[in-house]
Amino acid sequence: MTKVKKAVFPVGGLGTRLLPATKAIPKEMLPIVDKPVIQYAAEEAIAAGIEELILVTGRGKAMIEDHFDESVELDIALDRSGKTNLLEAADAWLPPPGTMAFVRQPKPLGLGHAVLCAERIVGDEPFAVLLDDELIVEGDLLKRLIDVQRETGGNVVAVMEVGAEETSRYGIIDPGNNSDSDVMRVEGVVEKPSVEDAPFRLAPIGRYVLTQDIFAHLSSLPRGAGGEVQLTDALAVAMDDTPLYDYRYDGYRSDCGSPEGIIEANVALGLAQPGIAGCLKDALRHHLDNAL
Ligand code: G1P
Repeated sequence: MTKVKKAVFPVGGLGTRLLPATKAIPKEMLPIVDKPVIQYAAEEAIAAGIEELILVTGRGKAMIEDHFDESVELDIALDRSGKTNLLEAADAWLPPPGTMAFVRQPKPLGLGHAVLCAERIVGDEPFAVLLDDELIVEGDLLKRLIDVQRETGGNVVAVMEVGAEETSRYGIIDPGNNSDSDVMRVEGVVEKPSVEDAPFRLAPIGRYVLTQDIFAHLSSLPRGAGGEVQLTDALAVAMDDTPLYDYRYDGYRSDCGSPEGIIEANVALGLAQPGIAGCLKDALRHHLDNAL
């Protein structure tokens, strides 16, 4: 089995749920405590053994590329002022030179289209897809998905149960009969069904490990939900030849594509940082008693 070395990060989306904050700033660059959202996803991939990061960007996203570059002026200024600890924070986490690729998605035609834009760089091997606005900082979810892909040879998606009224915001999978196990062979999957049409509540949460065969399906798909090319639709079509497995995740996750998710994640991760937790708790207590 080929090792999963490459991860695709679709970062061309417009971030409309976060307007006006995302008018001039890519949603991927909004901070959770002291790092932009995209950095968490990049670090998650590297921790899972991914060696090449492929970012599918779009108009107005140049700031993301700058974040993954060394900042020469900043390095010189910090070095001169002896702030070597900050120097570490600015650049030490960067992936090694030559391990990142940026490819443009000319138009935001959907998640499936964004993944298809990475086809030539991914080539003929299985690969991971991470949606950075789903913040996942606990455990080794991606590594587990990679293991399942290696063991089964299928496509693999991480899922969580969502609220009955939320199904129209997600893909929804039909788990079949084996609903007790962590890893299950999926019977069906549909993108953003209406609440009435969704008999199940298990939704993909933005972490996939896919075989290269998915590209052929993506390139011949009609537009799906929302008039976009949907990755979920390609997975559904692929199931005839390549089984789809889901992996149930029950750790911490936050939807950082929404204002409430960004705020909640800042609180959760802020409370986990010893240098911040004390004053954050005081502020939270104060605001709970004295809402603005
Ligand atoms: C995408 C996927 C959807 C998945 C969701 C998770 O939707 O199409 O299947 O459940 O991510 O966040 P989007 O949020 O891009 O509309």
